[in-house]
Amino acid sequence: MVTISHLQEWKREQFKFASITAYDATFARLFSKNGVKVILVGDSLGMTIQGHNSTLPVILNDMVYHIRCVRQGAPSCFLLADLPFMTYATPSQAFENAAKLMRAGANMVKLEGGGAWLADTIRNLVMRSIPVCGHLGLTPQSVNMLGGYKVQGKNMNDAEQLLADAHILAKAGMQLLVLECVPSKLAEQVTSELTIPIIGIGAGSKTDGQILVMQDVLGITEDINMPTFAKNFLASEGNIPAAVRCYIQEVESGQFPALEHSF
Ligand code: KIV
Repeated sequence: MVTISHLQEWKREQFKFASITAYDATFARLFSKNGVKVILVGDSLGMTIQGHNSTLPVILNDMVYHIRCVRQGAPSCFLLADLPFMTYATPSQAFENAAKLMRAGANMVKLEGGGAWLADTIRNLVMRSIPVCGHLGLTPQSVNMLGGYKVQGKNMNDAEQLLADAHILAKAGMQLLVLECVPSKLAEQVTSELTIPIIGIGAGSKTDGQILVMQDVLGITEDINMPTFAKNFLASEGNIPAAVRCYIQEVESGQFPALEHSF
C-alpha cells in the first residue's frame, strides 16, 4: 500500500514520481499494474467523462462514485481525490464532504486555492485526520475569476503571492501540493522552499512529481483541447500499457517534461 510516507521519502531521495488521473476501475487497474503508484480522481472528470467545458458542474456524489470505482481497480495505490466546486466553502462543509470522499476510498483530499481563507479549513480537516493536498497556480474551479485557462504567477507580485500562499497552506497542515501551469522557475522555488512533496502539471521538470490527465497521456483529448504542457505517449508506443510505462520512465529519468512542455 502506497502512503504519504512513500511520497515524503521520494522527495528526500529526489526520486521523481509520475502520477495520473483515473476515473474507473479498468484504467486504474491497468495503471497500477504498469507501475503507477499515485492516482488522482480529479474533478477534471467533469470535462473528460461528463463532457462539460469546465469542472464546475461536478457534484460530490460524482466524485464518490468515481473514487469507489478507482479504488476497486487500484487497491494499493495512493488515491488523491478532488473536493469539487463549492463543497469546501466553509470549514464545516469541507469536513462533512471530505469525510465522504475518504469513506469512498480516498487517502487524501485535494482542494484548490490559496491563502488565509483556506488555512482554517485545512487545519480543521487535518485535526480530524483528513490529509490535505493543496492546488495552486491555475485552479480550474476558478476559471471564471481567472478569465480562462491561463498560466499563473507570471509577474513578480503574482509569483510572490503564490509562494506566500504555499507557505501558509503548508503551515496549516497541507501535506502535498499540486502546482498547475506556472513558470518552471517559480515551481522550482516552491519545491525547494517547502518540505512537503510538490506535484507539477505544466510546472516544469523541477517539481518532486508530475501528474497528467489520462486522456492527455493517451492522446485521446481532441487536438483542440490538448494542453501544450502534455504529451501523447500512445503515439510512439502503440499500446496503452507501454504508453503508461513510457510516461513513468520519462518522468523518473527527467526526460518529461521537456522545455517544450514548460513555461
Ligand atoms: O482535476 C484534475 O484532474 C486535476 C489535475 C489537472 C491536477 O486537478
